[in-house]
Amino acid sequence: MLFDNRIAELRAELNRHNKLYYQDAQPEISDAEYDRLFRELEDLEKANPDLYDPNSPTLRVGGAPLDAFEQKAHLLPMLSIDDLFAEQEVADFFRRLQKGLGLDEIPLTVEPKIDGVACSLVYRNGSLEYALTRGDGTRGDDISQNVRTIRNIPLSLENAPPLLEVRGEIFMPSEGFAKLNEQRDEAGLDPFANPRNATAGTLKSLDPKVVASRPLAFLAHGLGANEGANLDTEDDFRKLLEQFQIPRNSPVWHVRTLDEILAAIRELDVKRHDLGHGTDGAVIKVLDFDQRETLGFTSRAPRWAAAFKYPPEQKETLLKDITIQVGRTGVLTPVAELEPVFVSGTTVSRATLHNQEEIERKDVRIGDTVLVEKAGEIIPSVVSVVVAKRPDNTPAYFLPEALNYQCPSCHGPIEKPDGFVAWRCVNFECPAQAVTSITHFAGRKALDLDGLGESVAIKLVESKLAASPLDLFTLSVDDFANLLLDPAKSSDGLTQSKERRFGEKRATTLFNSLEKARTEMPLNRWLFAMGIPQVGESAARELSRLHKKLSDLPGSAIISDLADLPDFEELSKSKRKKENHPGLQQYQIDDNLGPVAAQHLRTFFQSEAGQTVLAKLDELGIDPRSDNYAPDPVAATEGLPLVGKTFVITGTLSAPRPEFKKIIEANGGKVSGSVSSKTDFLLSGEGGGSKQTKAESLGVPVIDEAALTEMLQS
Ligand code: IVH
Repeated sequence: MLFDNRIAELRAELNRHNKLYYQDAQPEISDAEYDRLFRELEDLEKANPDLYDPNSPTLRVGGAPLDAFEQKAHLLPMLSIDDLFAEQEVADFFRRLQKGLGLDEIPLTVEPKIDGVACSLVYRNGSLEYALTRGDGTRGDDISQNVRTIRNIPLSLENAPPLLEVRGEIFMPSEGFAKLNEQRDEAGLDPFANPRNATAGTLKSLDPKVVASRPLAFLAHGLGANEGANLDTEDDFRKLLEQFQIPRNSPVWHVRTLDEILAAIRELDVKRHDLGHGTDGAVIKVLDFDQRETLGFTSRAPRWAAAFKYPPEQKETLLKDITIQVGRTGVLTPVAELEPVFVSGTTVSRATLHNQEEIERKDVRIGDTVLVEKAGEIIPSVVSVVVAKRPDNTPAYFLPEALNYQCPSCHGPIEKPDGFVAWRCVNFECPAQAVTSITHFAGRKALDLDGLGESVAIKLVESKLAASPLDLFTLSVDDFANLLLDPAKSSDGLTQSKERRFGEKRATTLFNSLEKARTEMPLNRWLFAMGIPQVGESAARELSRLHKKLSDLPGSAIISDLADLPDFEELSKSKRKKENHPGLQQYQIDDNLGPVAAQHLRTFFQSEAGQTVLAKLDELGIDPRSDNYAPDPVAATEGLPLVGKTFVITGTLSAPRPEFKKIIEANGGKVSGSVSSKTDFLLSGEGGGSKQTKAESLGVPVIDEAALTEMLQS
């Protein structure tokens, strides 16, 4: 065994750094250094499978997924606990204790009841052997793999007794819960109703990598089986936990009389909102293990413990309005604007409604009286509607209609992708999405803009230099060079260097890569950079094979014919062939480009936002070309009637617009998607719309089909 020492050393070292980072918040090494040690261990473990250890820190990030959880018997039954709902019931419980023990005063503890999922950790000879859920109290699910990803649970204990079972609660801290639900809203997924559901849902995952990605934590609150540790009271057990650095539930009040119990319960009721996780009660327990044994158990719960449940705080208030937030990826999140109301320790005036489906489930309408609570005591949420108090004729709320099918931030098109619960704005120039879209736009697979990562994008947007990707092309080297960045952290992490600017050198590099994007980046990269839904790298490549330049896309017959085909995800494989469409047959379009992408392209180019993008590109003189771009030989168009003339087509004509495009191009003219000062004629049919208004305002002649025919004959 050449490497067993190094492997052991790395495991110990990584465990130490994990603890410094996750429990003490006092890291000693940089993330990069940690990653280096982690990879070294990973490589050695891969090369030495015989040295496998389920408690290796490399498994913190999650091992292979399971097919199902195995069931295992508990060493001692995992009982439930009796609930007390009023101070009188606490008094009755205390009297039973006094009677059972024949004492007036009894040493007890009062501590928070954590709103999570009960879990038993079994350590044998100092190594976490397995972890079980409560299950039916006798047998539980073996969730060891998932539990190993929870960072504040030690995987090995030093100088541990032969057997130690630690019982406690796995939960999701409020901050992590809020962030997770935000991410889910943003991703168009259903949010979790409360931290407990989020925890239970996460632990049920058979893929430990999912669990590793969720912010779960553990706090111990009780002793299970024990061999070899001499423990007389709960306090002895607490000291043992401290020694092993297993985090324990707190705060704990030590009390002896009914008055002291009630005082502790009231104090906890104030404090519990600031614990950083959900609590729904106070657990009262006898301190001394001998006294516990004297009191014993009923069939379902110990006689030596009880849980006082705080009444859930729910308040009625008026839902005055529903506003819409545009997230950084364009997701539109409805927010309830409430008549301010005091709930669980703070005033609540807003609560997320998550998405349209959630609004429909609860049937929330503007003007409703709603019931408000704090999910996990922290995050304001609308529980339900008091339908009896709904004013007559209150219409149902439908988000896209309320928004007139436009993004409130940029008036871009909005849509709800199949299988998602959220509506989103799909305009890559939307200012609310500026950071995300600029970062994507600059990405390696998009326009590969040197030195423009997310942190620089944030600064560009914050400093108001750029509100959207195309704004980048209006900036000078100096603009970039003077951009103020966050101060760099020095290596000791204590002192901060003062001002830090983007700098001349990086600015020049970035500016040059923008020039390259403007003149050399091929059409497929631009199309991908624009982030149109369903237009990924391969669809962009196929589009680029089929078109010569970006300005060909808005009027493309291929796109409009393809968009009219039924969605071939729903067709059988044999019917998917685009040969079904006579016009498309000749192009041999591959599977990367289908009707759905075409519909998205059509919607985008026809939208107000899409038109603005085309006009901006036109103004910037940007018209990305495909690799197969070859200018039409001049000779071929020479002498044709429309040479040098640019047309825009709008309104309903006697034939589809692409037909007119073909005629114009065959006669030497060009067709562009949007009206600008460079447009020579607007060919307008019935209902010319915004393009006609724009042409008129720019003094661009507006012609009809008859006038075009005349031009062709002249
Ligand atoms: S002591 C024999 N202390 O509540 C049970 N339990 O409703 C002794 N719980 O399954 C339990 N916080 O998982 C105890 N501070 C706390 C607790 C706590 C939450 C859970 C526990 C139990 C459930 C009973």
